Amino acid sequence: MQLKLKLTVVAAIAAVAGVASAQEQVVKIGHVAPVSGAQAHYGKDNENGARMAIEELNAQGVTIGGKKIKFELQAEDDAADPKQGTAAAQKLCDSKVAGVVGHLNSGTTIPASKVYNDCGIPMVTGAATNPNLTKPGYKTTFRIIANDNALGAGLAFYAVDTLKLKTVAIIDDRTAYGQGVADVFKKTAVAKGMKVVDEQFTTDKATDFMAILTAIKSKNPDAVFYGGMDPQAGPMLRQMEQLGMGNVKYFGGDGVCTSEIAKLAAGAKTLANVICAEGGSSLAKMPGGTAWKAKYDAKYPNQFQVYSPYTYDATFLLVDAMKRANSVDPKVYVNELAKANFKGVTSAIAFEPNGEMKNPSITLYVYKDGKKTPL
Ligand code: ALA
Repeated sequence: MQLKLKLTVVAAIAAVAGVASAQEQVVKIGHVAPVSGAQAHYGKDNENGARMAIEELNAQGVTIGGKKIKFELQAEDDAADPKQGTAAAQKLCDSKVAGVVGHLNSGTTIPASKVYNDCGIPMVTGAATNPNLTKPGYKTTFRIIANDNALGAGLAFYAVDTLKLKTVAIIDDRTAYGQGVADVFKKTAVAKGMKVVDEQFTTDKATDFMAILTAIKSKNPDAVFYGGMDPQAGPMLRQMEQLGMGNVKYFGGDGVCTSEIAKLAAGAKTLANVICAEGGSSLAKMPGGTAWKAKYDAKYPNQFQVYSPYTYDATFLLVDAMKRANSVDPKVYVNELAKANFKGVTSAIAFEPNGEMKNPSITLYVYKDGKKTPL
């Protein structure tokens, strides 16, 4: 009799413990960016931002639908390659992640956005800036940073109105991003009376630009606009110095607006000619920027590049929508995501019906004594 009673108590305790663990639910959030190859520094920075958010959410303890949620980051590498981008997206669909932060490059994000839409998973990018991303009108696509219509035009206005430059040569890397941002710059600059004296093309793998720069030098432009990323822009600045193009201004979008470009330019004085545009406010002007950056630097020393505050916000934004929907089901909480009114570290985030951010800002930067400095 006594033995039987003891067994009943043990069974009851086990049952309670079982209920407790059944009440905890693991929810996976995907992240995709290039974490291998020449653009790995951007991708690692982005991944760090999402990871930091996941750790903080788990430390806070989040309850949704009566269950304690344990968030897990499923981080994938797309190597900035469109094919690997869609493969990574399919992998996240198959893993049934609840939402995705990313991707980083427009060239991977645009094709991946269709994969996520087909499997019904919301994605939030804080880095891919080509305006075409939101053209299909997918209910699952969201961007929390200004797009290239703002970046390219902002740079053209500055070149013409403030610096009074008359002529420009344009180079792009033929990626969705590089080509897109160069096109917007060109259209705006030409509309404002600037003359495009040469157009040249490269790739996101190239490191030798002597031939195209020599061709450009013969046209004697006031400025070069480069649509592309820093693994090309850094060596290009060095080669411009070698060719005696020290007086040519160098414009670029967010892809060249990194901390890393100062290293990649390896002491070239032409770094001081760079004027680049990035979505959002400078860290010092973001609502929570300075405190956030101190926390980031303590965790990931010397890894900050550009977008980690956005991947951090994107992660919290997804979870904010889940909380308001009281559901981690993507098909349910996506409706709340569309109605977001979220105060992030980067800014207040709300969306237009097409998934673009409402009222995005941009900031122009220069490199003073080798250090990225807001204008
Ligand atoms: N803004 C860059 C892109 O869209 C990183 O590819």
